[in-house]
Amino acid sequence: MTLPTPGARRAAPGTAVPFTPTAPLTSSPHATGAVTFPDGFLWGTATAAFQIEGASTEGGREDSIWDAFCRIPGAVVNGDDGSVADDHYHRYREDVALMRRLNLDAYRFSTSWARVVPDGKTVNQEGLDFYSRLVDELLAADVLPWLTLYHWDLPQALEELGGWPNRDTAARFVDYAVTMHEALGDRVKVWTTLNEPWCSAFLGYTAGAHAPGRKSPADGLTAAHHLMLAHGEAVRALRDRDPEAVLGLTLNFTVSDPVDPTDPADVDAARRDDGMFNRFFLDPILRGAYPQDLLDDVAHLGFADVVRDGDLEAISTPIDVLGVNYYNGGAVSATPQGPAGEAPAGTADPGGERADAAVWETRSPNPVPDGIHHHNRGLPLTDMGWEVQPEGLTRLLTRLQRDYTGPRGTSMFVTENGAAYPDVVQADGSVDDPDRLAFVDAHLRAVRDAIDAGADVRGYFAWSLMDNFEWALGYSKRFGLVRVDYETQARTVKSSGRWYAEVARTGVVPARGAGTGGSAADAE
Ligand code: FCB
Repeated sequence: MTLPTPGARRAAPGTAVPFTPTAPLTSSPHATGAVTFPDGFLWGTATAAFQIEGASTEGGREDSIWDAFCRIPGAVVNGDDGSVADDHYHRYREDVALMRRLNLDAYRFSTSWARVVPDGKTVNQEGLDFYSRLVDELLAADVLPWLTLYHWDLPQALEELGGWPNRDTAARFVDYAVTMHEALGDRVKVWTTLNEPWCSAFLGYTAGAHAPGRKSPADGLTAAHHLMLAHGEAVRALRDRDPEAVLGLTLNFTVSDPVDPTDPADVDAARRDDGMFNRFFLDPILRGAYPQDLLDDVAHLGFADVVRDGDLEAISTPIDVLGVNYYNGGAVSATPQGPAGEAPAGTADPGGERADAAVWETRSPNPVPDGIHHHNRGLPLTDMGWEVQPEGLTRLLTRLQRDYTGPRGTSMFVTENGAAYPDVVQADGSVDDPDRLAFVDAHLRAVRDAIDAGADVRGYFAWSLMDNFEWALGYSKRFGLVRVDYETQARTVKSSGRWYAEVARTGVVPARGAGTGGSAADAE
Protein backbone atom coordinates (compact mmCIF):
# COMPACT_ATOMS: atom_id res chain seq x y z
CA MET A 1 0.00 0.00 0.00
CA THR A 2 1.13 3.55 -0.68
CA LEU A 3 1.17 5.57 2.51
CA PRO A 4 2.47 9.12 2.18
CA THR A 5 6.16 9.65 2.75
CA PRO A 6 6.95 12.00 5.62
CA GLY A 7 9.10 14.71 4.11
CA ALA A 8 6.81 15.71 1.26
CA ARG A 9 5.37 18.36 3.57
CA ARG A 10 5.62 22.04 2.70
CA ALA A 11 4.96 25.19 4.76
CA ALA A 12 1.58 26.92 4.71
CA PRO A 13 1.35 29.80 2.24
CA GLY A 14 -0.34 32.04 4.83
CA THR A 15 -3.14 33.20 2.54
CA ALA A 16 -6.71 31.93 2.15
CA VAL A 17 -8.34 30.98 -1.16
CA PRO A 18 -11.56 32.73 -2.26
CA PHE A 19 -14.68 30.72 -3.10
CA THR A 20 -15.29 30.10 -6.80
CA PRO A 21 -18.43 28.23 -7.82
CA THR A 22 -18.11 25.35 -10.28
CA ALA A 23 -20.75 23.72 -12.46
CA PRO A 24 -21.93 20.13 -11.85
CA LEU A 25 -20.15 17.61 -14.08
CA THR A 26 -22.42 16.03 -16.63
CA SER A 27 -20.34 13.09 -17.83
CA SER A 28 -17.63 10.72 -16.64
CA PRO A 29 -15.22 8.61 -18.71
CA HIS A 30 -15.63 5.91 -16.07
CA ALA A 31 -19.43 5.87 -16.00
CA THR A 32 -20.01 2.22 -16.86
CA GLY A 33 -16.92 0.12 -17.70
CA ALA A 34 -14.54 -1.70 -15.38
CA VAL A 35 -12.33 0.76 -13.47
CA THR A 36 -8.86 -0.16 -12.28
CA PHE A 37 -7.38 1.69 -9.30
CA PRO A 38 -3.67 2.47 -8.96
CA ASP A 39 -1.43 -0.18 -7.40
CA GLY A 40 -1.28 0.22 -3.65
CA PHE A 41 -4.65 1.98 -3.41
CA LEU A 42 -5.85 1.32 0.12
CA TRP A 43 -9.25 -0.32 0.64
CA GLY A 44 -10.86 0.02 4.03
CA THR A 45 -13.96 0.51 6.08
CA ALA A 46 -14.58 2.93 8.93
CA THR A 47 -16.37 2.95 12.28
CA ALA A 48 -16.28 5.06 15.46
CA ALA A 49 -16.00 4.05 19.10
CA PHE A 50 -19.30 5.35 20.41
CA GLN A 51 -21.20 3.97 17.44
CA ILE A 52 -20.07 0.36 17.86
CA GLU A 53 -18.34 -0.43 21.15
CA GLY A 54 -21.12 -0.57 23.75
CA ALA A 55 -19.78 -1.62 27.19
CA SER A 56 -20.29 1.98 28.23
CA THR A 57 -19.80 1.33 31.95
CA GLU A 58 -17.25 -1.51 31.69
CA GLY A 59 -13.51 -1.52 32.09
CA GLY A 60 -13.42 1.77 33.96
CA ARG A 61 -15.09 3.79 31.19
CA GLU A 62 -17.13 6.79 32.31
CA ASP A 63 -19.60 9.05 30.51
CA SER A 64 -18.77 10.86 27.33
CA ILE A 65 -20.93 13.77 26.19
CA TRP A 66 -22.84 11.31 24.02
CA ASP A 67 -23.84 9.13 27.01
CA ALA A 68 -25.17 12.25 28.69
CA PHE A 69 -26.88 13.53 25.52
CA CYS A 70 -28.67 10.20 24.98
CA ARG A 71 -30.34 10.67 28.38
CA ILE A 72 -31.98 13.95 27.34
CA PRO A 73 -35.61 13.12 26.49
CA GLY A 74 -36.19 13.52 22.76
CA ALA A 75 -32.53 14.08 21.87
CA VAL A 76 -32.09 10.69 20.14
CA VAL A 77 -34.70 8.79 18.11
CA ASN A 78 -36.43 6.07 20.16
CA GLY A 79 -34.38 7.07 23.19
CA ASP A 80 -31.58 4.87 21.79
CA ASP A 81 -28.14 5.00 23.40
CA GLY A 82 -24.64 3.54 23.07
CA SER A 83 -24.71 1.20 26.07
CA VAL A 84 -24.68 -1.96 23.91
CA ALA A 85 -24.44 -0.73 20.28
CA ASP A 86 -22.69 -3.48 18.26
CA ASP A 87 -21.10 -4.94 21.39
CA HIS A 88 -17.79 -4.56 19.58
CA TYR A 89 -15.96 -4.22 22.90
CA HIS A 90 -16.63 -7.92 23.45
CA ARG A 91 -16.80 -9.04 19.82
CA TYR A 92 -13.77 -7.27 18.35
CA ARG A 93 -12.07 -10.56 17.45
CA GLU A 94 -15.08 -11.66 15.43
CA ASP A 95 -15.21 -8.22 13.80
CA VAL A 96 -11.55 -8.29 12.82
CA ALA A 97 -12.07 -11.75 11.33
CA LEU A 98 -14.91 -10.25 9.32
CA MET A 99 -12.58 -7.54 8.01
CA ARG A 100 -10.13 -10.19 6.92
CA ARG A 101 -12.87 -12.04 5.08
CA LEU A 102 -13.80 -8.75 3.37
CA ASN A 103 -10.19 -8.47 2.10
CA LEU A 104 -9.72 -5.07 3.76
CA ASP A 105 -6.27 -3.49 3.76
CA ALA A 106 -7.13 -1.06 6.54
CA TYR A 107 -9.61 -0.38 9.31
CA ARG A 108 -10.38 3.17 10.39
CA PHE A 109 -11.61 3.18 13.99
CA SER A 110 -11.63 5.66 16.83
CA THR A 111 -10.52 5.38 20.41
CA SER A 112 -12.79 6.55 23.20
CA TRP A 113 -11.22 9.29 25.29
CA ALA A 114 -13.77 8.50 28.01
CA ARG A 115 -12.48 4.91 28.13
CA VAL A 116 -8.83 5.90 28.31
CA VAL A 117 -8.98 9.07 30.44
CA PRO A 118 -12.45 8.75 31.99
CA ASP A 119 -12.31 11.75 34.33
CA GLY A 120 -10.37 13.87 31.86
CA LYS A 121 -7.11 13.59 33.82
CA THR A 122 -6.38 10.05 35.10
CA VAL A 123 -5.27 7.35 32.67
CA ASN A 124 -7.26 4.12 32.82
CA GLN A 125 -4.97 1.21 31.93
CA GLU A 126 -7.91 -1.11 31.27
CA GLY A 127 -9.08 1.23 28.53
CA LEU A 128 -5.65 1.30 26.93
CA ASP A 129 -5.46 -2.48 27.13
CA PHE A 130 -8.62 -2.86 25.07
CA TYR A 131 -7.16 -0.83 22.20
CA SER A 132 -3.87 -2.65 22.51
CA ARG A 133 -5.66 -5.98 22.06
CA LEU A 134 -7.63 -4.59 19.12
CA VAL A 135 -4.47 -3.34 17.40
CA ASP A 136 -2.72 -6.67 17.92
CA GLU A 137 -5.70 -8.48 16.46
CA LEU A 138 -5.69 -6.19 13.41
CA LEU A 139 -1.98 -6.61 12.82
CA ALA A 140 -2.25 -10.38 13.14
CA ALA A 141 -4.97 -10.27 10.47
CA ASP A 142 -2.76 -8.06 8.27
CA VAL A 143 -5.20 -5.16 8.50
CA LEU A 144 -3.62 -1.71 8.91
CA PRO A 145 -4.91 0.07 12.03
CA TRP A 146 -5.95 3.64 11.04
CA LEU A 147 -6.54 5.29 14.38
CA THR A 148 -8.69 8.36 15.00
CA LEU A 149 -8.26 9.97 18.41
CA TYR A 150 -11.49 11.94 18.52
CA HIS A 151 -14.77 11.02 16.89
CA TRP A 152 -17.06 13.34 18.88
CA ASP A 153 -17.02 11.67 22.32
CA LEU A 154 -15.53 14.17 24.78
CA PRO A 155 -15.37 12.90 28.38
CA GLN A 156 -18.37 14.43 30.14
CA ALA A 157 -16.01 15.50 32.94
CA LEU A 158 -14.32 17.87 30.47
CA GLU A 159 -17.65 19.19 29.18
CA GLU A 160 -18.45 20.07 32.77
CA LEU A 161 -15.28 22.17 32.81
CA GLY A 162 -16.52 24.07 29.75
CA GLY A 163 -16.07 21.59 26.90
CA TRP A 164 -14.52 22.67 23.62
CA PRO A 165 -15.28 26.39 24.14
CA ASN A 166 -12.79 26.11 27.03
CA ARG A 167 -9.28 26.55 25.57
CA ASP A 168 -7.85 24.19 28.17
CA THR A 169 -9.67 21.27 26.49
CA ALA A 170 -7.16 21.53 23.64
CA ALA A 171 -4.29 20.98 26.10
CA ARG A 172 -6.11 18.02 27.63
CA PHE A 173 -6.48 16.55 24.12
CA VAL A 174 -2.73 16.75 23.52
CA ASP A 175 -2.12 14.86 26.80
CA TYR A 176 -4.60 12.20 25.68
CA ALA A 177 -2.96 11.96 22.23
CA VAL A 178 0.45 11.43 23.82
CA THR A 179 -0.98 8.81 26.18
CA MET A 180 -2.38 6.90 23.23
CA HIS A 181 0.87 7.18 21.33
CA GLU A 182 2.89 5.96 24.32
CA ALA A 183 0.68 2.88 24.44
CA LEU A 184 0.28 2.14 20.73
CA GLY A 185 2.89 4.13 18.81
CA ASP A 186 5.11 1.07 18.45
CA ARG A 187 2.36 -0.62 16.39
CA VAL A 188 0.10 2.12 14.98
CA LYS A 189 1.64 4.17 12.19
CA VAL A 190 -1.32 6.26 10.99
CA TRP A 191 -2.82 8.78 13.40
CA THR A 192 -5.83 10.97 12.75
CA THR A 193 -6.42 13.66 15.34
CA LEU A 194 -10.07 14.63 14.74
CA ASN A 195 -13.03 13.39 12.80
CA GLU A 196 -15.23 16.15 11.37
CA PRO A 197 -14.63 19.08 13.73
CA TRP A 198 -17.46 20.90 11.89
CA CYS A 199 -19.90 18.44 13.45
CA SER A 200 -18.33 18.59 16.91
CA ALA A 201 -18.40 22.37 16.90
CA PHE A 202 -21.49 23.39 14.99
CA LEU A 203 -23.88 20.46 15.42
CA GLY A 204 -22.80 20.13 19.05
CA TYR A 205 -22.48 23.74 20.24
CA THR A 206 -24.52 25.81 17.74
CA ALA A 207 -27.40 23.68 16.40
CA GLY A 208 -27.69 21.65 19.61
CA ALA A 209 -28.59 18.64 17.44
CA HIS A 210 -25.61 16.62 18.66
CA ALA A 211 -23.90 16.30 22.02
CA PRO A 212 -23.48 18.32 24.13
CA GLY A 213 -26.63 20.02 22.79
CA ARG A 214 -25.67 23.65 23.28
CA LYS A 215 -27.23 26.30 21.07
CA SER A 216 -24.83 29.20 20.71
CA PRO A 217 -23.28 30.58 17.52
CA ALA A 218 -20.35 32.04 19.50
CA ASP A 219 -19.69 28.77 21.35
CA GLY A 220 -19.67 26.86 18.05
CA LEU A 221 -17.04 29.19 16.61
CA THR A 222 -14.90 29.06 19.74
CA ALA A 223 -15.21 25.27 19.88
CA ALA A 224 -14.12 25.03 16.23
CA HIS A 225 -11.02 27.13 16.85
CA HIS A 226 -10.05 25.12 19.93
CA LEU A 227 -10.64 21.83 18.09
CA MET A 228 -8.26 22.98 15.37
CA LEU A 229 -5.76 24.14 17.99
CA ALA A 230 -5.99 20.73 19.66
CA HIS A 231 -5.35 19.12 16.28
CA GLY A 232 -2.30 21.25 15.48
CA GLU A 233 -0.73 20.93 18.93
CA ALA A 234 -1.31 17.16 18.90
CA VAL A 235 0.34 16.87 15.47
CA ARG A 236 3.37 18.72 16.85
CA ALA A 237 3.54 16.47 19.89
CA LEU A 238 3.15 13.24 17.92
CA ARG A 239 5.66 14.37 15.30
CA ASP A 240 8.18 15.09 18.07
CA ARG A 241 7.66 11.61 19.45
CA ASP A 242 7.78 9.83 16.09
CA PRO A 243 9.04 11.60 12.95
CA GLU A 244 7.98 8.60 10.83
CA ALA A 245 4.34 8.59 11.93
CA VAL A 246 1.74 9.40 9.26
CA LEU A 247 -0.37 12.20 10.73
CA GLY A 248 -3.52 13.98 9.65
CA LEU A 249 -7.14 14.77 10.30
CA THR A 250 -10.48 14.09 8.67
CA LEU A 251 -12.85 16.85 7.62
CA ASN A 252 -16.38 16.60 6.25
CA PHE A 253 -17.22 18.64 3.19
CA THR A 254 -20.07 19.95 1.17
CA VAL A 255 -20.07 21.20 -2.41
CA SER A 256 -22.10 24.43 -2.41
CA ASP A 257 -23.68 25.23 -5.76
CA PRO A 258 -25.59 28.49 -6.23
CA VAL A 259 -29.13 27.70 -7.41
CA ASP A 260 -28.76 30.46 -10.01
CA PRO A 261 -25.06 30.95 -10.82
CA THR A 262 -25.90 34.22 -12.61
CA ASP A 263 -27.54 35.71 -9.49
CA PRO A 264 -24.94 37.41 -7.25
CA ALA A 265 -27.16 36.90 -4.19
CA ASP A 266 -27.23 33.12 -4.74
CA VAL A 267 -23.48 33.08 -5.38
CA ASP A 268 -22.98 34.94 -2.10
CA ALA A 269 -25.21 32.46 -0.25
CA ALA A 270 -23.07 29.64 -1.69
CA ARG A 271 -19.90 31.50 -0.67
CA ARG A 272 -21.11 31.73 2.93
CA ASP A 273 -22.31 28.11 2.99
CA ASP A 274 -19.02 26.86 1.58
CA GLY A 275 -17.21 29.20 3.94
CA MET A 276 -18.59 27.98 7.25
CA PHE A 277 -18.60 24.35 6.16
CA ASN A 278 -15.35 23.99 4.23
CA ARG A 279 -13.06 27.01 4.27
CA PHE A 280 -13.44 27.74 8.00
CA PHE A 281 -11.39 24.56 8.55
CA LEU A 282 -9.42 24.16 5.32
CA ASP A 283 -7.78 27.57 5.24
CA PRO A 284 -6.41 27.67 8.80
CA ILE A 285 -5.25 24.05 8.68
CA LEU A 286 -3.79 23.90 5.18
CA ARG A 287 -3.06 27.53 4.35
CA GLY A 288 -2.39 29.05 7.78
CA ALA A 289 -5.03 31.82 7.62
CA TYR A 290 -8.74 32.33 8.27
CA PRO A 291 -10.55 33.65 5.18
CA GLN A 292 -11.17 37.38 5.60
CA ASP A 293 -14.72 37.13 4.21
CA LEU A 294 -15.62 34.71 7.03
CA LEU A 295 -13.92 36.82 9.69
CA ASP A 296 -16.07 39.72 8.45
CA ASP A 297 -19.22 37.56 8.51
CA VAL A 298 -18.69 36.50 12.14
CA ALA A 299 -17.06 39.67 13.48
CA HIS A 300 -20.15 40.58 15.57
CA LEU A 301 -19.80 37.27 17.46
CA GLY A 302 -16.47 38.27 18.97
CA PHE A 303 -14.48 35.59 17.18
CA ALA A 304 -11.36 37.76 16.78
CA ASP A 305 -10.85 37.66 20.58
CA VAL A 306 -10.66 33.87 20.55
CA VAL A 307 -7.66 33.64 18.19
CA ARG A 308 -4.33 34.22 19.95
CA ASP A 309 -0.89 34.91 18.56
CA GLY A 310 0.75 31.70 17.40
CA ASP A 311 -2.52 29.76 17.07
CA LEU A 312 -2.50 29.71 13.28
CA GLU A 313 1.10 28.49 13.20
CA ALA A 314 0.10 25.60 15.44
CA ILE A 315 -3.10 24.87 13.51
CA SER A 316 -1.26 24.79 10.18
CA THR A 317 1.45 22.37 11.34
CA PRO A 318 2.14 20.22 8.25
CA ILE A 319 0.12 17.02 7.94
CA ASP A 320 0.69 13.99 5.74
CA VAL A 321 -2.95 13.04 5.18
CA LEU A 322 -6.18 14.93 4.71
CA GLY A 323 -9.08 12.55 5.31
CA VAL A 324 -12.04 13.49 3.14
CA ASN A 325 -15.55 12.58 4.26
CA TYR A 326 -18.13 13.14 1.56
CA TYR A 327 -21.81 12.28 1.48
CA ASN A 328 -23.38 15.02 -0.65
CA GLY A 329 -23.31 18.65 -1.69
CA GLY A 330 -26.14 21.17 -1.81
CA ALA A 331 -27.86 23.77 -3.96
CA VAL A 332 -27.94 27.09 -2.13
CA SER A 333 -29.96 30.24 -2.69
CA ALA A 334 -30.55 33.60 -1.04
CA THR A 335 -34.29 32.91 -1.29
CA PRO A 336 -36.36 29.99 0.05
CA GLN A 337 -37.54 27.22 -2.25
CA GLY A 338 -41.23 27.46 -3.20
CA PRO A 339 -43.98 28.46 -0.75
CA ALA A 340 -42.95 28.12 2.91
CA GLY A 341 -42.70 24.52 4.04
CA GLU A 342 -43.59 23.15 0.63
CA ALA A 343 -41.08 21.39 -1.60
CA PRO A 344 -41.73 21.52 -5.36
CA ALA A 345 -43.60 18.57 -6.86
CA GLY A 346 -41.46 15.50 -7.35
CA THR A 347 -38.90 16.47 -4.73
CA ALA A 348 -38.64 15.94 -1.02
CA ASP A 349 -37.70 18.22 1.82
CA PRO A 350 -33.88 18.17 1.99
CA GLY A 351 -33.98 17.64 5.74
CA GLY A 352 -37.03 15.38 5.49
CA GLU A 353 -35.93 12.18 7.15
CA ARG A 354 -33.65 13.72 9.71
CA ALA A 355 -34.80 13.56 13.31
CA ASP A 356 -32.80 16.70 13.82
CA ALA A 357 -34.59 18.47 10.96
CA ALA A 358 -36.81 20.34 13.40
CA VAL A 359 -33.77 21.50 15.32
CA TRP A 360 -32.06 22.54 12.12
CA GLU A 361 -35.06 24.67 11.24
CA THR A 362 -35.08 26.52 14.51
CA ARG A 363 -31.31 26.57 14.98
CA SER A 364 -28.96 26.19 12.05
CA PRO A 365 -25.47 24.75 12.54
CA ASN A 366 -24.26 27.82 10.64
CA PRO A 367 -23.47 30.57 13.16
CA VAL A 368 -24.52 33.16 10.55
CA PRO A 369 -27.41 31.40 8.79
CA ASP A 370 -29.65 34.28 7.68
CA GLY A 371 -30.31 34.34 3.97
CA ILE A 372 -28.89 30.90 3.21
CA HIS A 373 -31.53 28.50 1.88
CA HIS A 374 -30.95 24.93 0.73
CA HIS A 375 -32.95 23.78 -2.27
CA ASN A 376 -33.73 20.28 -3.39
CA ARG A 377 -32.59 19.45 -6.90
CA GLY A 378 -34.71 16.37 -7.41
CA LEU A 379 -31.71 14.03 -7.20
CA PRO A 380 -32.34 10.56 -5.69
CA LEU A 381 -32.24 10.57 -1.88
CA THR A 382 -30.82 8.11 0.62
CA ASP A 383 -32.68 7.07 3.75
CA MET A 384 -31.07 10.10 5.46
CA GLY A 385 -32.81 12.39 2.97
CA TRP A 386 -29.37 13.23 1.56
CA GLU A 387 -29.01 13.73 -2.20
CA VAL A 388 -27.01 11.14 -4.13
CA GLN A 389 -24.45 13.30 -5.94
CA PRO A 390 -21.28 11.40 -6.89
CA GLU A 391 -19.94 14.02 -9.30
CA GLY A 392 -19.65 16.38 -6.33
CA LEU A 393 -16.90 14.13 -4.98
CA THR A 394 -14.86 14.56 -8.18
CA ARG A 395 -15.18 18.33 -7.99
CA LEU A 396 -14.37 18.34 -4.29
CA LEU A 397 -11.20 16.25 -4.62
CA THR A 398 -9.87 18.24 -7.58
CA ARG A 399 -10.48 21.52 -5.75
CA LEU A 400 -8.79 20.23 -2.59
CA GLN A 401 -5.78 19.10 -4.61
CA ARG A 402 -5.46 22.43 -6.43
CA ASP A 403 -6.03 24.84 -3.54
CA TYR A 404 -5.14 22.98 -0.35
CA THR A 405 -3.41 19.61 -0.35
CA GLY A 406 -1.35 19.96 -3.52
CA PRO A 407 0.52 23.11 -2.35
CA ARG A 408 1.29 21.40 1.00
CA GLY A 409 2.43 18.01 -0.34
CA THR A 410 -0.45 16.37 1.57
CA SER A 411 -2.12 13.19 0.31
CA MET A 412 -5.85 12.52 0.46
CA PHE A 413 -7.79 9.47 1.49
CA VAL A 414 -11.57 9.28 1.30
CA THR A 415 -12.10 8.36 4.94
CA GLU A 416 -15.90 8.13 4.80
CA ASN A 417 -18.46 7.66 2.07
CA GLY A 418 -21.53 5.49 2.06
CA ALA A 419 -25.30 5.45 2.33
CA ALA A 420 -28.17 4.52 4.61
CA TYR A 421 -30.99 2.54 3.06
CA PRO A 422 -33.65 0.45 4.79
CA ASP A 423 -32.49 -3.16 4.41
CA VAL A 424 -34.89 -5.96 3.55
CA VAL A 425 -33.91 -9.26 5.15
CA GLN A 426 -34.82 -12.26 2.97
CA ALA A 427 -36.36 -15.42 4.39
CA ASP A 428 -32.93 -17.07 4.31
CA GLY A 429 -31.45 -14.21 6.32
CA SER A 430 -29.56 -12.64 3.43
CA VAL A 431 -29.65 -8.92 2.62
CA ASP A 432 -29.61 -7.72 -0.96
CA ASP A 433 -28.88 -3.98 -0.99
CA PRO A 434 -28.48 -2.84 -4.61
CA ASP A 435 -28.95 0.84 -3.71
CA ARG A 436 -25.98 0.87 -1.32
CA LEU A 437 -23.87 -1.09 -3.80
CA ALA A 438 -24.75 1.38 -6.58
CA PHE A 439 -23.91 4.31 -4.28
CA VAL A 440 -20.42 3.02 -3.50
CA ASP A 441 -19.86 2.02 -7.13
CA ALA A 442 -20.77 5.51 -8.38
CA HIS A 443 -18.59 7.25 -5.81
CA LEU A 444 -15.58 5.04 -6.55
CA ARG A 445 -15.95 5.98 -10.21
CA ALA A 446 -16.01 9.63 -9.12
CA VAL A 447 -12.79 9.09 -7.13
CA ARG A 448 -11.16 7.57 -10.19
CA ASP A 449 -12.19 10.62 -12.25
CA ALA A 450 -10.51 12.85 -9.65
CA ILE A 451 -7.32 10.75 -9.74
CA ASP A 452 -7.29 11.10 -13.53
CA ALA A 453 -7.57 14.87 -13.05
CA GLY A 454 -4.45 14.82 -10.85
CA ALA A 455 -5.84 14.43 -7.32
CA ASP A 456 -3.48 12.50 -5.04
CA VAL A 457 -6.10 10.16 -3.56
CA ARG A 458 -4.54 7.04 -2.05
CA GLY A 459 -7.42 5.10 -0.58
CA TYR A 460 -11.11 4.77 0.23
CA PHE A 461 -12.89 3.78 3.43
CA ALA A 462 -16.53 2.79 3.14
CA TRP A 463 -18.80 4.05 5.89
CA SER A 464 -19.45 1.74 7.51
CA LEU A 465 -18.10 -1.71 8.21
CA MET A 466 -21.39 -2.56 9.92
CA ASP A 467 -24.70 -1.01 10.94
CA ASN A 468 -24.32 1.08 14.07
CA PHE A 469 -25.57 3.91 16.30
CA GLU A 470 -26.24 6.77 13.91
CA TRP A 471 -26.01 9.57 16.49
CA ALA A 472 -29.27 11.53 16.93
CA LEU A 473 -30.98 8.98 14.66
CA GLY A 474 -30.10 6.07 16.93
CA TYR A 475 -30.32 2.64 15.34
CA SER A 476 -32.97 3.73 12.81
CA LYS A 477 -30.50 4.22 9.94
CA ARG A 478 -28.31 1.46 8.55
CA PHE A 479 -25.03 2.32 6.79
CA GLY A 480 -23.28 -1.05 7.09
CA LEU A 481 -21.77 -3.26 4.42
CA VAL A 482 -22.54 -5.84 7.11
CA ARG A 483 -25.94 -6.07 8.77
CA VAL A 484 -26.14 -6.19 12.54
CA ASP A 485 -29.16 -7.85 14.13
CA TYR A 486 -29.46 -5.82 17.33
CA GLU A 487 -31.44 -8.60 19.06
CA THR A 488 -28.80 -11.29 18.56
CA GLN A 489 -25.72 -9.26 17.51
CA ALA A 490 -25.42 -11.58 14.49
CA ARG A 491 -23.40 -10.07 11.62
CA THR A 492 -24.49 -10.80 8.02
CA VAL A 493 -22.48 -9.58 5.04
CA LYS A 494 -24.84 -7.73 2.68
CA SER A 495 -24.51 -8.04 -1.10
CA SER A 496 -22.77 -4.63 -1.09
CA GLY A 497 -20.22 -6.11 1.33
CA ARG A 498 -19.56 -9.09 -0.92
CA TRP A 499 -19.14 -6.77 -3.88
CA TYR A 500 -16.78 -4.50 -1.92
CA ALA A 501 -14.70 -7.49 -0.81
CA GLU A 502 -14.10 -8.34 -4.45
CA VAL A 503 -13.18 -4.72 -5.27
CA ALA A 504 -10.74 -4.72 -2.34
CA ARG A 505 -9.23 -8.02 -3.47
CA THR A 506 -8.76 -7.02 -7.11
CA GLY A 507 -8.43 -3.23 -7.02
CA VAL A 508 -11.00 -3.14 -9.81
CA VAL A 509 -14.55 -1.83 -9.78
CA PRO A 510 -16.28 -4.22 -12.18
CA ALA A 511 -18.28 -3.02 -15.16
CA ARG A 512 -21.77 -2.04 -14.09
CA GLY A 513 -24.09 -5.02 -13.97
CA ALA A 514 -21.18 -7.51 -13.94
CA GLY A 515 -22.42 -9.25 -10.79
CA THR A 516 -21.78 -8.86 -7.09
CA GLY A 517 -18.58 -10.86 -6.79
CA GLY A 518 -18.21 -13.63 -4.32
CA SER A 519 -14.99 -13.76 -2.37
CA ALA A 520 -16.87 -13.05 0.86
CA ALA A 521 -19.95 -14.99 -0.19
CA ASP A 522 -19.18 -17.61 2.37
CA ALA A 523 -18.59 -15.00 5.05
CA GLU A 524 -21.78 -15.69 6.97
C1 FCB B 1 -20.43 11.19 9.48
C2 FCB B 1 -19.87 10.66 10.77
C3 FCB B 1 -20.07 9.19 10.96
C4 FCB B 1 -21.41 8.72 10.46
C5 FCB B 1 -21.68 9.23 9.07
C6 FCB B 1 -23.00 8.78 8.49
O1 FCB B 1 -20.68 12.55 9.60
O2 FCB B 1 -18.49 10.93 10.86
O3 FCB B 1 -19.85 8.88 12.31
O4 FCB B 1 -22.40 9.07 11.35
O5 FCB B 1 -21.63 10.63 9.07
